[in-house]
Amino acid sequence: MRDGFSWGVSTSAYQVEGAVREDGRGLSIWDTFAHEPDRIADGSTGDVACDHYHRYGQDVALMADLGVSAYRFSIAWPRIQPTGAGAANPAGVAFYDRLVDELLGRGIDPVATLFHWDLPQDLQDAGGWTARDTAYRFADYADVLGAALADRVRLWITLNEPVVHLIFGHLWGMHAPGLHLFEDPFPVVHHQLLAHGLAAGALRGHGPTPIGIANNYSPAWPVGPDGRRDSATAADRAAAQVYATLQNWLFTDPILRGEYPAGLDAFPGAAALETLVRDGDLAAIGAPLDALGVNYYNPTGVGAPSHDTPLPFDIRLVEGYPRTYFGWPVVPDGLREMLVSLRERYGAALPPVYVTESGCAYADVPAATGSIVDSERIGYLDGHVGAVRQAAAGGVDVRGYFVWSLLDNFEWGEGFTKRFGLVHVDFATQVRTPKASYAWYRDLIAADRAGRG
Ligand code: FCB
Repeated sequence: MRDGFSWGVSTSAYQVEGAVREDGRGLSIWDTFAHEPDRIADGSTGDVACDHYHRYGQDVALMADLGVSAYRFSIAWPRIQPTGAGAANPAGVAFYDRLVDELLGRGIDPVATLFHWDLPQDLQDAGGWTARDTAYRFADYADVLGAALADRVRLWITLNEPVVHLIFGHLWGMHAPGLHLFEDPFPVVHHQLLAHGLAAGALRGHGPTPIGIANNYSPAWPVGPDGRRDSATAADRAAAQVYATLQNWLFTDPILRGEYPAGLDAFPGAAALETLVRDGDLAAIGAPLDALGVNYYNPTGVGAPSHDTPLPFDIRLVEGYPRTYFGWPVVPDGLREMLVSLRERYGAALPPVYVTESGCAYADVPAATGSIVDSERIGYLDGHVGAVRQAAAGGVDVRGYFVWSLLDNFEWGEGFTKRFGLVHVDFATQVRTPKASYAWYRDLIAADRAGRG
C-alpha cells in the first residue's frame, strides 16, 4: 500500500458482480442458498446484483471521481476454480486482470479479498469448512491468484469475517450454507484459520505484497434485559466476556498470538480442537502478518442466557442510541474502543490496522428531483472517521478507512432491502446515482489530502 492514509471503499463479489453464469463461473454456496425458498427477505438473488461484472468501468470511474486511493473488492473463487480445485479458468482470471488494470490506471490501489463467503458449491458438497481439505484447496487457490495478480494487487485480504461466516452461516443458518452446527462448530473455526495461514504462506511465494485478514469486531457490552449497560448483572458481564472470546478473540489470538484464547470450554464442542489442531498448524496460522482489517458496525449487547439456547449468552439490543435502518445502534465511539482494545490485547504483535468496512443502511429514497440526501449516513461516517482519528491520536497505527460500500448491493439474507452505498443503485435499470454522502466523502478525502500536503 502507498505511504500515508488510505481512503477507500469496499464491496464483495457476490454482492455486486452478477453474471453468475458467465465465462465459466462455477456455482457457489450463495447461488444455491439464495435460490432456495424463504432464505432471502425479498426473494431476490445475486444473479444480477449491481451487474458490476459488466459495469466495472463505470464503477471504477465513480471511484476515481470520489478520489479514493484504494478499492477493496473480493474475488469469486468459483470464477477462478469453478469446482474449487484444479487449473485456473482463464476467463475468470481475465475479469480481475481487467479490473485491477482499470484501478491502477486510475491511481487506485487494488485490495483483493480472496474469500468473502462464496465457497464453490462442489467444496461444500465435500464438507465445506468442516473438512480440513478445504483449507488445502484454499491454499491452492491463493497460489493461483498469487501467480496471476501479485504483481498488481497492493494488499491481500485472505478471509472476510470468518466469525460471521461461522455464526450466520454455520450456527444460525441465516447465511449460506444454512447450517446449524451448534454441537460441533470447531472444525469450521480451525479450518478457516488454517486456510488463512496456508494461503498467506502461498501468497508469500509470489512476492512482497502485504497480507492481512478482515475480521468483524464488536465491543461486547454487558446489558440487562432492558438493553441498558447500567442494569447489567455480574452474570451479564460474565456472558459478555464469553461472547467477546467468540466474536473478537477466537479468530485473532491464533493469528497474532499463535494460540487459541482461554475460555473456549464455555462452548459446546471445544474439546474437538485437541484433534483438529495438528503439528505445524498454529505456526502457519500465527506467521507474521502485515495488516489487520477491522470491520466494525456496532457494539453488541450481551446478557446471561435467559432461556434454552445452545449458546452461553443472549444477544440483546443496546438501547439509548439512534439506530440505522437495519436496527443497529449507532455508536461511533465503539470503533475507537475496539481499536484501543486490540492494541491493548496484542501490543507490539498488532500489525498496522485498516478499517476495512464501516458503513450503515438507511432508506435512501430518492426525492422527486432524483437526489438522495442521506444526512444520517453522513453523520454516521463523520462520527466513525472521528473515532479512527481519536484512536490514531491515542497511538493505534491505523492506516486506512474503507466505507462499506461504494454501491447499494445484495445484502445477503436481507436481499436488496438494505442500502449501504455511497452510490444509489436502481436495481430495475442499473442507474447509479451518487448520494449526498458520496459528495461528503469526496470533500473529506480532498481536504485530508490537501492538509497532508
Ligand atoms: C459485513 C459484510 C459485508 C456487508 C456488511 C453490511 O458483515 O462483510 O459483506 O454485508 O456486513
